Amino acid sequence: MFSIISTKELKAHTIEMLLRRAQFYVEQEKAGTDQSLFTHNVEGTVVNLFFEPSTRTNLSFQMAANRLGLRTLDFTVETSSVRKGESVIDSLQTVNALGVDIAIVRHQLDWPALVSKEMFNMALVNAGSGTQEHPTQALLDALTMQQHFGRLRGLTITIVGDVLHSRVARSNAALLQTMGAKVQLAAPEEYKTSDIPGAVWVEFDQALVETDVIMMLRVQHERHKTISAIANYNDYYGLNQRRLEMLSKDAIILHPGPVNRGFEITDEVLLDSRCKILQQVRNGVAMRMAVLELCLQGGKHEKLVSA
Ligand code: CP
Repeated sequence: MFSIISTKELKAHTIEMLLRRAQFYVEQEKAGTDQSLFTHNVEGTVVNLFFEPSTRTNLSFQMAANRLGLRTLDFTVETSSVRKGESVIDSLQTVNALGVDIAIVRHQLDWPALVSKEMFNMALVNAGSGTQEHPTQALLDALTMQQHFGRLRGLTITIVGDVLHSRVARSNAALLQTMGAKVQLAAPEEYKTSDIPGAVWVEFDQALVETDVIMMLRVQHERHKTISAIANYNDYYGLNQRRLEMLSKDAIILHPGPVNRGFEITDEVLLDSRCKILQQVRNGVAMRMAVLELCLQGGKHEKLVSA
């Protein structure tokens, strides 16, 4: 079984192969290719086990599975035995026993630390684990950058905001450094962390002038148990009209979504041509098709590269 749990485990050649395969699906979609052509590549049953809310990740995995012709099972916390106290391990063992081929898991805890891949004869895909990892978000972000710049190597990416609570920041920092990019971080003191190796801390306004990519992070109020809200956050650490004017005309703006409008990002930023947030969402389907396919192929790259 081939699982995708952490970008720290992904080798450069696997990331490159996923980027190529996802780009292939993006181009087929643009060309209006009949999706039924892709349904014979792989087969299997997929379940989204989402213990935390999601719009983009949940729906794009469902759409990716549909486009590949995979069977999908419904699961919601509200209607499942989680309501009766079932643990994430027990939910996983149950869907494994039912014959599921891939479990796509989002949980408020660092769930991979609670289980071992060897416990299951199905693949696991991490769709978000606490503050630690969101590998398919980093993969689709990399695809968005590569589409714009034609490369990842040598790019400077500045990740800004609630870094402390961000699985997106951690997954992106590891993946981008594997691919030869430079990762910078900018945050108010309250949202800094020391557990992102290789990334350098910079001052937001200075970084704007030279960065290729500004990746704004959602301020994750729901995880702020002991931190008070920062007054006038947008003035200090948000992207707004003043900072748009400082940003290079060739730079791009990313945000994993959902956005806190007027907080880390203002409405005029969302209308700027450098803002690629909806392109990120579109790329999520193609990248997740590539991810599901790779898992069902047991991680065997050569079967996919020729497509
Ligand atoms: N980027 C992201 O994970 O968004 P959702 O929470 O809507 O899935």
